[in-house]
Amino acid sequence: MPDTLTITDNRTGKQYEVPVQDGAIRAMDLRKIKVQEDDFGLVTYDPAYQNTAACKSAITYIDGDKGVLLYRGYPIEQLAEASNYLETAYLILFGELPTASQMEAWNKEITLHTMLHENVKQFMEGFQYNAHPMGVFLSTVGALSTFYPDAKQIFDAESRRHQTVRLIAKTPSIAAYAFRHLTGRFYVYPDNDLSFTGNFLNMLFKMTELKYKVNKVLERALDVLFILHADHEQNCSTSAMRAIGSSHADPYSALAGAAAALYGPLHGGANEAVLKMLKEIGSVANVPAFIKRVKGGDGRLMGFGHRVYKSYDPRAKIIKQTADMVFEVTGRNPLLDIALELERIALQDEYFIARKLYPNVDFYSGLIYQAMGFPVEMFPVLFAIPRTAGWIAQWDEMLNDPEQKIARPRQLYVGADTRDYVPADKRK
Ligand code: CMC
Repeated sequence: MPDTLTITDNRTGKQYEVPVQDGAIRAMDLRKIKVQEDDFGLVTYDPAYQNTAACKSAITYIDGDKGVLLYRGYPIEQLAEASNYLETAYLILFGELPTASQMEAWNKEITLHTMLHENVKQFMEGFQYNAHPMGVFLSTVGALSTFYPDAKQIFDAESRRHQTVRLIAKTPSIAAYAFRHLTGRFYVYPDNDLSFTGNFLNMLFKMTELKYKVNKVLERALDVLFILHADHEQNCSTSAMRAIGSSHADPYSALAGAAAALYGPLHGGANEAVLKMLKEIGSVANVPAFIKRVKGGDGRLMGFGHRVYKSYDPRAKIIKQTADMVFEVTGRNPLLDIALELERIALQDEYFIARKLYPNVDFYSGLIYQAMGFPVEMFPVLFAIPRTAGWIAQWDEMLNDPEQKIARPRQLYVGADTRDYVPADKRK
């Protein structure tokens, strides 16, 4: 017998059988619950989609209570240990780990598309000298749609694959140019001899040397951070990507919107906010007073808490280990002691325990980025580069899902009843 939910409507005394599948009822099944025949029918009210599954997805699995994160079934710990970002991106985008020859072809394809059109470079130069690199990044990604009008062919699988390669390959170049712009340095062209992350470091930090020498520890650390950030199922920016894509906009425009959603301090901007918070606290001695302030409702402990994880974020654990690796090369970030003390106190404090607030991915990533020489403004950009893989995979999945339509939630109207227009001189 199929699982069903029996609902009794106390307003009418009627009973309804609603099918339960995959632990969910279909919201549209509630529409038949009506008092009068011409009623609209029952809707669900779910601000911020806290309990609404808006899609079926085969990409990323999270068990927030157990701290589990899988990409296409593979645990994040194993990918962070053994994979690299480009391979993980392939897995996320195409569903399986590549064979050796598929990987070679993928590597080559991405490497060949890292260059930006010279006009892109020129208009990037037009931004204010101190323009926030995330603003530059998202505007430039959006502008790519004007360079690749073929991207409008969203139902052509070959065109989608072409845009996918362009986006994965070009986002690091845009990010690096945005960084060089902020720091007043000339833009550096990609070096095809280097790995994906090695080349990114080259475009960021190369000065007058003929060939940039990549530090292998930092290259690997950045690659691990990219793996950890590659996808995270239906978060705010991914939902934005799906919502914009659902109107059949091209992927560059949709990705610009997703990046804009990532920019906010409650999402990808959180690691920037963590660093600002640590600086503001200033010393280990000030930590208890800061925690007291947060508990009193004055601000939040940034880098703590998550809508889905109600235990330690598995990515935060890996990042903490990566931090040790990086600090051996760069020297210890002096803010680390404040972060460790914050974590120590928060993890044994009743306020944080009761609300299941643990460090999230952003708590330590900013410390690593800062030690590697990135200004805080670059942090959300560093998040956006790998998340591009997740955004595109989710967009592609959405377009191929016959159940999906243009995203268009309902509202509960709580405004004024119908009333007549009043001329300006008669208004009180
Ligand atoms: N510091 C102090 N209290 C907090 C925090 C925090 N970081 N996060 C949540 N709370 C409290 C909140 O005040 C509320 O308490 P009460 O029940 O007494 O009102 C309770 O915990 C539940 O919070 P919520 O705001 O209803 O939880 P949410 O699921 O809507 O928010 C969150 C999730 C990530 C936005 C939130 O935890 C937060 O603002 N954290 C700080 C920002 C941050 O680190 N963001 C990065 C998220 S991970 C990276 C990513 O995926 O983008």
